[in-house]
Amino acid sequence: MKVVIIGGGSSYTPEIIEGLILRQDEFPVDFITLVDIESGKEKLEIVGQLAKRMIEKAGVSIELSWTLDRREALNRADFVSTQIRVGGLKAREKDERIPLSHGLIGQETNGAGGIFKAFRTIPVLLDLAKDVSEICPDAWIINFTNPAGIVTEALLKHGMHKKVIGVCNIPYNMTQSAAEILKEDPNNVRIEFIGMNHFVFGSKVLVNGEDKLSKVIEALVNQSVDFSPANIVSSGWSETFLEAMNMLPNPYHQYYYQKESTLKKDLKAYQDNGTRAEQVQVIEEELFNEYKNPQLDIKPEALEKRGGAYYSDVACSLMSSIYNNSQNIMTVNTLNNGAIVDFAEDAVIEVNCLITKEGPVPLTVGRLPQQIKADILMMKAFEEQVIKTSISGDYRDAYLAFVMNPLIKDEKKAKVILDELLNAHKQYLPQF
Ligand code: G6P
Ligand code: MN
Repeated sequence: MKVVIIGGGSSYTPEIIEGLILRQDEFPVDFITLVDIESGKEKLEIVGQLAKRMIEKAGVSIELSWTLDRREALNRADFVSTQIRVGGLKAREKDERIPLSHGLIGQETNGAGGIFKAFRTIPVLLDLAKDVSEICPDAWIINFTNPAGIVTEALLKHGMHKKVIGVCNIPYNMTQSAAEILKEDPNNVRIEFIGMNHFVFGSKVLVNGEDKLSKVIEALVNQSVDFSPANIVSSGWSETFLEAMNMLPNPYHQYYYQKESTLKKDLKAYQDNGTRAEQVQVIEEELFNEYKNPQLDIKPEALEKRGGAYYSDVACSLMSSIYNNSQNIMTVNTLNNGAIVDFAEDAVIEVNCLITKEGPVPLTVGRLPQQIKADILMMKAFEEQVIKTSISGDYRDAYLAFVMNPLIKDEKKAKVILDELLNAHKQYLPQF
């Protein structure tokens, strides 16, 4: 079995290496190839050497290589995981800073920043999908690249390779936290998810078939635990909100349901410490300094400071479940295919699926509940507009995507920020 990691020079890579090492019995990977681009060469070398030490220390027989030649790497691949950031953290900094400087949310996957991340990423991943379809047509693409839901839908609608699954650590984190609240083994806890990536709600918390949602809601009101990753720290939710919604929000929902206070909090953090991208650059420097240490042969703890911590559990479990045709339930981004009645068949949703060797089969959700119906339909229409623009590169399409986004929704600001971002990211936007 061969796993290829696109964006292998990422500071997150030691996680997925650890995940693959730990699963050798159930998921016997013989080859791992890390791929990166010229500008990531140095990081790739450092991560490659660390991964090599990790594999040696574990004493498993995995042949590891790293390269800048993507097409060569894809030869005989069974799984291709993608974790790229087009333009790197410098581009992310602009996605965050430009909207914030105009008094709007500046975030990597939400609002104007998220839209531009999609514009930069979709052409690059469509190109990868073309290579995969030619070189290893049976391989699965496991996409972590953000905005993961939008990118996955773009690949499934417009890409040449149809075996694509999108993943995120948020449903995983929410399940772990709910299990902690309920003092249950996370393997026995299953949240029913409704919605899209970073806009997903938990509608039930099932433990052995019994719904414990109200118990989790009660604990959230008392704030004993929340579901936040390191980067999106929730300020907690009011009792009235949680009880009226009767659903679990995810940490990103603070941008939509606590708009004013979140903007205030983010603006303050930006003035005090700069953007998240700037903070991540500091964390990355620390991480890479550790990675360089020839004595280090395990995943360092400092990686937990990153918002995507534990993503590898999701990636490795998913690959293993496909390989073993496990028919277990996992939450992934895949084609709706009728799971949510209100959506088109070919819309991508984040949903619980049965994982088979043919891929994920979404479990029926039914109709969207009234309290989230309008927001979810609006967000899906917005996402489709972003995908359309990522391909057309049409200014009016882009402007519409901005106006349709609830975090922008201001015709004048939309134009000013759009123009500024288009100019700032020019070199990564071949379609415009
Ligand atoms: C969360 C999201 C990921 C995102 C990460 C960012 O975990 O689910 O999609 O990539 O946060 O973390 P960072 O440390 O880069 O801010
Ligand atoms: Mn995510």
